[in-house]
Amino acid sequence: MTQPQIGITLGEADFRKIVAIAASEAGLAIPEAKKSLVQSRVARRIRALGLKNCGDYLKALDADRSETQNLISVLTTNVSNFYREQHHFDCVRELFLAGGGLSKLRFWSAGCSNGQEPYTLAIEILKSIPDADKKDILVLATDIDGSVLEKASKGIYTEAEIEGVSPADRSKFFTRTPTNDFEVCPALKQLVRFKMLNLNGPSWPMQGLFDAIFCRNVVIYFNDETQARLWPRFHALLKPGGVLMLGHSERLHPLEGSGFETAGVTTYRKTTEAGPN
Ligand SMILES: C[S@@+](CC[C@H](N)C(=O)[O-])C[C@H]1O[C@@H](n2cnc3c(N)ncnc32)[C@H](O)[C@@H]1O
Repeated sequence: MTQPQIGITLGEADFRKIVAIAASEAGLAIPEAKKSLVQSRVARRIRALGLKNCGDYLKALDADRSETQNLISVLTTNVSNFYREQHHFDCVRELFLAGGGLSKLRFWSAGCSNGQEPYTLAIEILKSIPDADKKDILVLATDIDGSVLEKASKGIYTEAEIEGVSPADRSKFFTRTPTNDFEVCPALKQLVRFKMLNLNGPSWPMQGLFDAIFCRNVVIYFNDETQARLWPRFHALLKPGGVLMLGHSERLHPLEGSGFETAGVTTYRKTTEAGPN
């Protein structure tokens, strides 16, 4: 017999504490309007841990640093698709891949979720540069959430999850698994490196410069200070002429003095060597 679900409520003080942890850890801005969503997600986590109430959960957060990661994971949205906002992939093809591309190219999918975004980049690379494995071409794919990175590294998707991929590209770049899912082919996997990285963290380990940075549908969840801190950091990691792609409802603001100019829909080109003050 299934046990009746114990109602777990998040009091105002508990909600504020969760909001403060999400802001300081991941730079997330959670408005009061999202309280019931936060309550249902946190309650699910509390039940999964076998705890009774939010007070016990806050103690568990204090006692175990790794639980903060799990909290951020339940609070963030991981929706993604292959070829989401296709115009950015068209732009990358025109700017960097057409005509066989350069011998060295670097792309970064920052906030890559389950991997659809970096694998779409990899598909585009292989379609334009079939011998990409003989060149120095890589897609770095990072996310704060270890559980999405695990799925992304496996590269296995249901038919619904690969909806944006054409039938021709499905047969070229995916194989069927025994459970009738689709697994990205080794040539695609070879082009992508998955790593855990908090965009709100104090230091990032990357040293080389990127041709394009995709940070789409990520900063929408950040507060203004976190967004403002990100633009100069992205600027410093782009080659001159490199581009930053944001999601459809995100804007690089203020553009003036940022060292970027608009180069298409939610596409920003680095114009100056010197970053903003
Ligand atoms: C909605 S998904 C976007 C996926 C993909 N970029 C796209 O547009 O389809 C947002 C991703 O941002 C990640 N994220 C949220 N806060 C982050 C942070 N502080 N550092 C790194 N990734 C973060 C989440 O874990 C989630 O996987």
